[in-house]
Amino acid sequence: MDGSGRALSPGANALLQDALEGLSQRQKRLSPKWLYDQRGSALFEEITGLPEYYLTRTEAAILTEYAAELAGLVPEGGALVEFGSGASVKTRTLLDAGDHFAAYVPIDISANFLHQTAHGLRAHYPRLEIAPVVADFTAPVRLPPHLDAMAKVGFFPGSTIGNLPPEAATDLLRHARRWPGAQGFILGADLVKDEATLVAAYDDAQGVTAQFIGNILHRLNAELGADFDTGAFAYRATWNAALARIDMELVSTRAQTVSLPGARIDFAAGEAIHVSASRKYTEQTLAQLVVPAGWRVEQLLTDEDRAFAVAVLLPQ
Ligand code: TRP
Repeated sequence: MDGSGRALSPGANALLQDALEGLSQRQKRLSPKWLYDQRGSALFEEITGLPEYYLTRTEAAILTEYAAELAGLVPEGGALVEFGSGASVKTRTLLDAGDHFAAYVPIDISANFLHQTAHGLRAHYPRLEIAPVVADFTAPVRLPPHLDAMAKVGFFPGSTIGNLPPEAATDLLRHARRWPGAQGFILGADLVKDEATLVAAYDDAQGVTAQFIGNILHRLNAELGADFDTGAFAYRATWNAALARIDMELVSTRAQTVSLPGARIDFAAGEAIHVSASRKYTEQTLAQLVVPAGWRVEQLLTDEDRAFAVAVLLPQ
């Protein structure tokens, strides 16, 4: 039941269990996977166009420059399998260069967004099989069995790998290595750079990122009947040099108590909810991530400022 006595849907129940678990920790946390509802996905698309958010345009330029080579990793009749596809904007660069692909498999947690995207892609690429999979890729993803016989190349752009804890990142890469027909993996990874550039990318002047992160509290209110005073939490992005990551948090601006179905959560003034981390890599730390998963970095494609990297992984 939520706050108004309605029964929760299975999806809302998963959100509730996760929120109760995360908010009862000493360091309160919410999982970034809940950021991407319809509004969150739209806000994220807006972030990708912000002047401070260099990641998307830099990665897109690398993908465009090396499109033919990257598409060539997929053998004739093979499939490109993308994690966290969102609006599949960047993917079009590879699909345009991949006339020989038999299938494109976008995996995303946001079902509505995924199905809209699939619909648009079918219209644009009538000869390509579009086989969307609604899944949370923080757990092993089962691909449709009719794809078993196809060669597969994974595609995980946007440095979303950096939003996963390192062990989970390696697990995801290991699962993709074990897919029947696994041939390669194209991994977008943001690189370590100066702190000011990194922090600005996650705390933009227009406040879109703050809205994106704050949306998680709106979602808890709307879907669970929680009573977060969303104006009493401030967004903060900080660079943690020791862990080479940006931490994104919502800081309680005063002492307050929030009700969720089944719990009351106390916040001290200044207490933070950790919502997301975005890890930044060097060539070395990237290798540490992929090698235990059975891959090797065959090539590291970067822009001229070495801001962002697209790593081509091949089986060891
Ligand atoms: N993969 C993106 C990144 O780490 C996700 C992202 C961009 C993000 N901006 C964000 C996640 C703000 C949380 C908050 O850059």
